[in-house]
Amino acid sequence: MKGILPLFLFGYLSTVSGTILWDGRFNNYTTATDFDQWSWSNQVGTYQTYIYGNQHGETASSWLTLGSQYKNPATTGEKQGVKVKINATSTWNGGPMLRTELLPQTTNSLTGHLYFHVSLQIPTVNPPDPAYEHQIVFWEGHYADIKYGQLSGQNGVADTLQVITGGESIWSVQPVRGTWYNFILEVGSPGGLWVSTGSNALQKVYTGSLNGNGGTDWHVGALRLPINGNAQQINETDLYYSGVYVEDSGPTTQP
Ligand SMILES: *[C@@H]1O[C@H](CO)[C@@H](O)[C@H](O)[C@H]1NC(C)=O
Ligand SMILES: *[C@@H]1O[C@H](CO)[C@@H](O)[C@H](O)[C@H]1NC(C)=O
Ligand SMILES: *[C@@H]1O[C@H](CO)[C@@H](O)[C@H](O)[C@H]1NC(C)=O
Repeated sequence: MKGILPLFLFGYLSTVSGTILWDGRFNNYTTATDFDQWSWSNQVGTYQTYIYGNQHGETASSWLTLGSQYKNPATTGEKQGVKVKINATSTWNGGPMLRTELLPQTTNSLTGHLYFHVSLQIPTVNPPDPAYEHQIVFWEGHYADIKYGQLSGQNGVADTLQVITGGESIWSVQPVRGTWYNFILEVGSPGGLWVSTGSNALQKVYTGSLNGNGGTDWHVGALRLPINGNAQQINETDLYYSGVYVEDSGPTTQP
């Protein structure tokens, strides 16, 4: 019996983490200026960085800051996280939305039954204005979105962090500023949502399709919608992200 138990535990542990298909944990980045190396003709690093306010000669690193203070301290597989900033000049290609977003740079299609990991924090300093809809993690097809704030065209859910798929909110909280929220978006079949805070193990809070099977057009960052199409007053607004990666099985439930 004494000999069998450790073998059993080893076998169990070895099945709970999968192969990492894409690792966006910023370990290959020294400072945010490394993000500026990426372009459509020089697709280096682990992130595509083309969505940010670019009307006044800004670069990706005008909006992104790396640092250990921007990661979930419970995560061990990374040295730093990223602070994503928007302000009134965050208009990308002249559009009305305020945007700073990161997307995976990878030759892997990132499709199938996969686990997309991301931890994020609504910070105590420069938090997003709850009066506005912020799309803060989403696929371009918007089949599953993490959002914060008053949804465009709706009332009464302003200070809310939620996950929406198929037009339905499948998880929501009034977020505590300065707290890390850990998510796994399980795409493909069966699909689902895993959530925890801080250093707690992620637990499956929703089982069901997220209406998509992944893909590389996955946006991590701040997109603030205008209200009634008007230019809006805004001070610096920040979101922090860490623990961003995609694995093919498991999932790993430690943040
Ligand atoms: C990250 O750095 C490691 C070590 O230098 C290297 O093997 C790996 O290819 C790099 N990955 C990317 C995506 O640049
Ligand atoms: C907005 O942020 C950009 C990029 O960091 C900066 O150049 C600009 O001065 C900021 N605008 C204001 C009003 O602070
Ligand atoms: C911007 O910050 C200033 C100084 O804290 C504050 O007076 C003002 O109301 C803020 N504006 C918005 C749109 O939040």
